[in-house]
Amino acid sequence: MSSHPLLEVERLSVSFPVTGPGLKGLFLKQKLHAVNAVSLQVEPGSVVGLVGESGSGKSTLGRAMLKLEPSCAGSITFDGLQLDNATQSDIARLRQQTAMIFQDPYSSLNPRQTLGEAIAEVLKVHRKCSAEKRASRVDELLTLTGLSGDYKSRYPKQLSGGQCQRAAIARALAIEPRLIVADECVAALDVSIQAQIVNLLLELQRKINLTLLFIAHDLSIVRRLCDRVAVMYLGRIVEEGPTESVFSHPRHPYTAALISAIPDIDPERRLPDTLLRGEPPSPLDLPDGCAFHTRCCFAREACRKGEAPELRGDGNHQYACLLEAGEAERLTDPMR
Ligand SMILES: Nc1ncnc2c1ncn2[C@@H]1O[C@H](COP(=O)(O)OP(=O)(O)OP(=O)(O)O)[C@@H](O)[C@H]1O
Ligand SMILES: [Mg+2]
Repeated sequence: MSSHPLLEVERLSVSFPVTGPGLKGLFLKQKLHAVNAVSLQVEPGSVVGLVGESGSGKSTLGRAMLKLEPSCAGSITFDGLQLDNATQSDIARLRQQTAMIFQDPYSSLNPRQTLGEAIAEVLKVHRKCSAEKRASRVDELLTLTGLSGDYKSRYPKQLSGGQCQRAAIARALAIEPRLIVADECVAALDVSIQAQIVNLLLELQRKINLTLLFIAHDLSIVRRLCDRVAVMYLGRIVEEGPTESVFSHPRHPYTAALISAIPDIDPERRLPDTLLRGEPPSPLDLPDGCAFHTRCCFAREACRKGEAPELRGDGNHQYACLLEAGEAERLTDPMR
């Protein structure tokens, strides 16, 4: 196993120029800070979950980490190679070794191509095998994702949602990526089908040592699938650590609130269910201090001013909150 993370970002920021109504109704050019100084490491062979409410910047971070979205600050290192001044061949290597899968598999497949044609095309473009071996590799990939080779003559519209997501995964695997960013890839599927796709991803992780950045809303799936989890709030990672540690001892009130909102939470746990109040502030007008203070029932004066709190902790489980450890314990056991 290599000693460095497969993918690492340090203080990565992404902002979008937007125009919107300002004072007196005048339209102003503004900067929307979608990702703010995010640092995250993805170890080879691991599954890292990225969670947070809609608009917290998960997809933007996922794309920026693969250099599919330009960043305005920070650095990205893939497999030990820093990509700040990446040459075209560095980017080509990144494209060869990383892939993305999305929520709607139908939109990632060409409706006029059979699955066989779609996968064979990727094999050809990326020169993954000789022309003679292509057909058998297509069969192999379809089988690996739980579809038999018979599916190669089918069109996307002839497939169910789950089968289509399997086909999209087979196509993504055709380039033999070392890392896949899965952006809400099970969100649109029925619950039973979600479980099948999650099982498939776990199987692939074991069989081919796939590394996965798994972006999701559904925390119970993340708990099942991921080794580590990072929680985003308004463009920042507010907590990151081993999945079990984050779920059983959330240190940030935002994480505790998300966990308390999981419907089938362990009945042993006594999380207050009123932690998450109201809506997040606009990313165009971030509040001073901790961006979560406007919704946090533990917020105090120090949380409302200055810079956003930096991540702290034991290096393995980190959180960006000014609460002391003893106070944070109350998040998991408010009766204390
Ligand atoms: N191309 C864009 N131009 C302007 N703003 C954008 C663009 N893409 C994303 N944003 C904004 O950046 C912020 C983060 O968006 P992003 O899609 O990354 O969030 P997300 O966590 O993936 O949300 P969801 O869970 O809904 O998918 C949001 O405020 C969004 O409106
Ligand atoms: Mg998204």
